[in-house]
Amino acid sequence: MVQVFHPGADTVARVVLASIGAAPVLAVGLAYAFWRSPYATAQDVTREQPVPFSHEHHVGGLGIDCRYCHTSVEKAAFAGITPTETCMNCHSQEWTNAPMLAPVRRSLAD
Ligand code: HEC
Ligand code: HEC
Repeated sequence: MVQVFHPGADTVARVVLASIGAAPVLAVGLAYAFWRSPYATAQDVTREQPVPFSHEHHVGGLGIDCRYCHTSVEKAAFAGITPTETCMNCHSQEWTNAPMLAPVRRSLAD
């Protein structure tokens, strides 16, 4: 009787089967790594800000408490971004015609 498979055939078959099993796991892992990467989340991209808000001025100069603007900082994992209304508590009386604050007034109007 002629030998159909050479002695290494078992090993080849195992490697092929293992690769077929590992491929989807590897594909999902790579997709996840890409999805979470700074490239996909734009973590390091600096955005152009419409209003040049200054912490130095509002906190250092005026002495406003952090919690006045970041209301959820003691209750949640996310400190919260100030709603327009909070800015306008002051800026409806203070610096009301400043061009710098035009986007804030527009935001309140919308
Ligand atoms: C007058 C309102 C106001 C006060 C008071 C204030 N913040 Fe903010 N904070 C903002 C606004 C608006 C932003 C988003 C714009 C920016 O990043 O400048 C911000 C952004 C931040 C960010 C960046 C968040 C991010 O995801 O990039 C940190 C950190 C922060 N504030 C910490 C503080 C701390 C600490 C204090 C107190 C010492 C404080 N803030 C007081 C309005 C305020
Ligand atoms: C507690 C009152 C108060 C709150 C709340 C407040 N501001 Fe102000 N802001 C001021 C005062 C006072 C000035 C300074 C006006 C001056 O210099 O005559 C100012 C100045 C500014 C200026 C001019 C640039 C600078 O820093 O001098 C910008 C822009 C500004 N505020 C944006 C904001 C934004 C955006 C928010 C909401 C996240 C906000 N402010 C909330 C009181 C406040």
